[in-house]
Amino acid sequence: MQNQTPSLKPSVAWVTDLTHKYRSNQIFKATVNIVTLKVIFGLLILAVMTLAIVNAQQHPLTALPGAWLCIILLTAIFGFFQVRYAITPARDSLKFQKRFIGNIAHELRTPLAIIKTTTEVALIDTRLSPELHEAFDDILLELDRISETINNLLSFDTLSQPNRMRMEPVNISKIAESVLERNAALAKSRGISLSLLSSPTKMVLGNMTALEQVVSNLVKNAINYTPANSDGSVRISIENDYRNWVVLAVIDTGIGIGPKDLYHIFEPYYRGDTSRARNVGTGSSGLGLAIVNEIVRMHKGTISVKSAVGNGTTIAVTLPPAPADAKTNEPELDTSAEGIHEVLVDFT
Ligand SMILES: Nc1ncnc2c1ncn2[C@@H]1O[C@H](COP(=O)(O)OP(=O)(O)O)[C@@H](O)[C@H]1O
Ligand SMILES: [Mg+2]
Repeated sequence: MQNQTPSLKPSVAWVTDLTHKYRSNQIFKATVNIVTLKVIFGLLILAVMTLAIVNAQQHPLTALPGAWLCIILLTAIFGFFQVRYAITPARDSLKFQKRFIGNIAHELRTPLAIIKTTTEVALIDTRLSPELHEAFDDILLELDRISETINNLLSFDTLSQPNRMRMEPVNISKIAESVLERNAALAKSRGISLSLLSSPTKMVLGNMTALEQVVSNLVKNAINYTPANSDGSVRISIENDYRNWVVLAVIDTGIGIGPKDLYHIFEPYYRGDTSRARNVGTGSSGLGLAIVNEIVRMHKGTISVKSAVGNGTTIAVTLPPAPADAKTNEPELDTSAEGIHEVLVDFT
């Protein structure tokens, strides 16, 4: 017994090390999974061939085609499992990354809120010199940008767990109205007019927070990518399409998107040439449209982009309508007008 322990120790340590590596190193895990499956596959093919050869001695004509069919079937099935097992570690690692980013974003939210409140309180003090007042205003603007990025990162985390997204009837007109209201100051500072063309109660089936982010990201882009003091405008129009689905379009008169960028703008962290060259929308992360894309996809909706460089961009998202008998907690605004009259709310 005493002699066996020293020789056992290294092998136990080796197995433990390998097990640990298998659990923690996703590439090693994928390699082991693929090699194991290949070995099993090889053994099975050998078994089929052996059986075929044994059978062929009795029924040479019938046994061999059966064996080939068996091998093709086995190859297809094993190919499927191989891909599945090879991809699982990569998928897990991506999920982990999203969760990690989400956790950090969540941790940053509270201190950020405290800094913002403290700055806002400091701004109330009438003894502040104009220079300090301006400095605090700048801080607030930057804090808003950070919190927008954090919200986008938090969405990435939520989007990795679609079951956390509850779908219910949502008044998309109201969302559009409140997003425009929230961006009124930014638009005013750039000399851009905002307006909304929609029936007061266009209902979609979706998640309120997520849809708010879709509209907010689109409107922020429209404002940021419209040159300041160029007599520009940003409009939201909400109407039904031929299937009765709801189409929300954000229309701007901004710099437009070049054909080269058009195919990439929905990729995470992609920033168009124009945004870099002209330095519009500083503090942008390239996450905005990627999140819009994910959220719309989860709503089973579609997105279309129409753009002409120098003339403006229209990004339209199509969302499923709320069921006709859907009950909401929202007060009825004017049911007789629904679908017939349109209201124009101006935010200039
Ligand atoms: N309304 C728009 N007008 C012009 N370009 C736009 C517009 N919306 C998006 N883009 C382009 O698409 C890119 C990706 O947008 P987004 O994902 O929101 O990232 P960003 O953080 O750069 O705004 C932007 O960098 C910009 O080049
Ligand atoms: Mg953006």
